[in-house]
Amino acid sequence: MLAVYRIEKASFPQPWPYDVFDRFLGESGFLVAVEGRAVVGYVVADVVPNHGRAFGHVKDLAVHPDRRGEGYGRRLLAHALTRLAEHDATSVKLEVREGNDPAMNLYRDFEFQTLRRVENYYDDGDDAFVMVRELGDWGRRDRDYTNQ
Ligand SMILES: CC(C)(COP(=O)(O)OP(=O)(O)OC[C@H]1O[C@@H](n2cnc3c(N)ncnc32)[C@H](O)[C@@H]1OP(=O)(O)O)[C@@H](O)C(=O)NCCC(=O)NCCS
Repeated sequence: MLAVYRIEKASFPQPWPYDVFDRFLGESGFLVAVEGRAVVGYVVADVVPNHGRAFGHVKDLAVHPDRRGEGYGRRLLAHALTRLAEHDATSVKLEVREGNDPAMNLYRDFEFQTLRRVENYYDDGDDAFVMVRELGDWGRRDRDYTNQ
């Protein structure tokens, strides 16, 4: 868990506190990528019931700074979407910081659409973009998102 927290601190200007990860431990939407004994990255996602539909939410995704660009982000996101679809989520949303081009590119590549901008979303005043993707076709298409 400490390794996850270290990646979080190295990845975000406003990292989640350590105990948030403790709370997610064992949840099906908390997936950790491990290579050998090293934690390489993680994703946290959950399902929010909403008027009879279930919405997925990708809350956190990060890869160790030394291991970026190797496809871990892609694989973690793909696994998270599969978990959400298994838990009957019909769509998924996430927030991404304005100017976070690596993440935006990843999400666009996964066919997320930008829904809206939320001004002052982050404590430091930066805006976020809310991005969404329907999950109806997830896993039923020929395209392999983990292997570009
Ligand atoms: C976003 C992040 C998780 C991507 O993880 P990664 O393992 O480096 O990503 P991958 O190697 O799987 O790359 C997948 C795609 O992401 C995009 N991408 C990744 N790094 C990029 C970069 N430096 N510049 C532009 N696009 C990039 C590309 O579309 C890439 O596809 P390609 O390799 O076919 O060009 C990683 O950069 C990270 O941890 N960033 C800090 C934390 C963060 O911002 N998380 C997202 C919060 S919303």
